[in-house]
Amino acid sequence: MSLIEFDEWARAELESVEAALSRWVPAEAPAGLGQTMRYGVLDGGKRLRPLLVLAAARAVDGQCEAALRAACAVELIHAYSLIHDDMPCMDNDVLRRGKPTVHVQYGEAQAMLAGDAMQALAFEVLTPDAGVEPALQARLCSLLARSAGHAGMAGGQAIDLASIGATLDERTLRDMHHRKTGALLQASVLMGAACGRTNPVAWQALAEYGDALGLAFQVVDDILDVTQASETLGKTAGKDMDNNKPTYVSVLGLEPARRHAAQLRDQAHAALVRSGLPSTGLLGMLADKVVERDS
Ligand code: IPE
Ligand code: IPE
Ligand code: MG
Ligand code: MG
Ligand code: MG
Repeated sequence: MSLIEFDEWARAELESVEAALSRWVPAEAPAGLGQTMRYGVLDGGKRLRPLLVLAAARAVDGQCEAALRAACAVELIHAYSLIHDDMPCMDNDVLRRGKPTVHVQYGEAQAMLAGDAMQALAFEVLTPDAGVEPALQARLCSLLARSAGHAGMAGGQAIDLASIGATLDERTLRDMHHRKTGALLQASVLMGAACGRTNPVAWQALAEYGDALGLAFQVVDDILDVTQASETLGKTAGKDMDNNKPTYVSVLGLEPARRHAAQLRDQAHAALVRSGLPSTGLLGMLADKVVERDS
């Protein structure tokens, strides 16, 4: 697949995702909550997770309506996790997606409630009255819930906060990153795959692809925190060191962290080959982009 083909695909998909999110995230909700939710999720972010859902769905010839809903649901969970991650009780950050963070703009209570409401909305989006088979709705809800909860993102965030100032070994760091970031990225791939037909070999290979890509993503996030400026990142650079967080850079060093990210990208590509699926070009491009990005 050429870069031009990929960019054209991504532009069209992102337009649909943006329009669907704008339709599903309510402007009208009590006491300004809708406005806060829309501020937190619309017009910003790379939308990597929706692209992974849609690329995986494409690889298995999946149903479009279900895949679009899954793409938006996973972005809603991700955006909620960012709102809470930035709050003073967590990373205490003032800049996100190039704008003041939600609690800076609307206050802490609204930020907390917008996150809560976006989490619920994700599951509402996955369970329409018509258009997606009930069994598929249940499968998508299960994949998303498991990746977002105590065993995945929320659990990983708990480890992250409990590790401030600690020296972690690589194994513990990897476990934290797998949970706090990798789980939702892997779920994005599997939710896309659930929208079409797979066999056990392809499913397992896609799970391994998502696992490698998910970890690579957070290794690169740790690297960018020390190598990029806030203007490029759209969030405060140097925050991990300021907050005394163990990261792949602090534990391994910058160059070994870069090499590790490249190895994980190669593992992701190898898993795609093992999947035996004929059209994994978009997923392959996304693995490259995760490692080559500068924001
Ligand atoms: C940032 O995720 C938080 C992490 C999980 C590392 P992204 O880098 O995907 O953030 P957006 O969605 O593009 O803003
Ligand atoms: C956040 O990790 C992971 C989430 C679950 C939101 P970070 O704290 O490193 O994310 P950034 O760097 O603030 O985006
Ligand atoms: Mg954090
Ligand atoms: Mg943070
Ligand atoms: Mg970070």
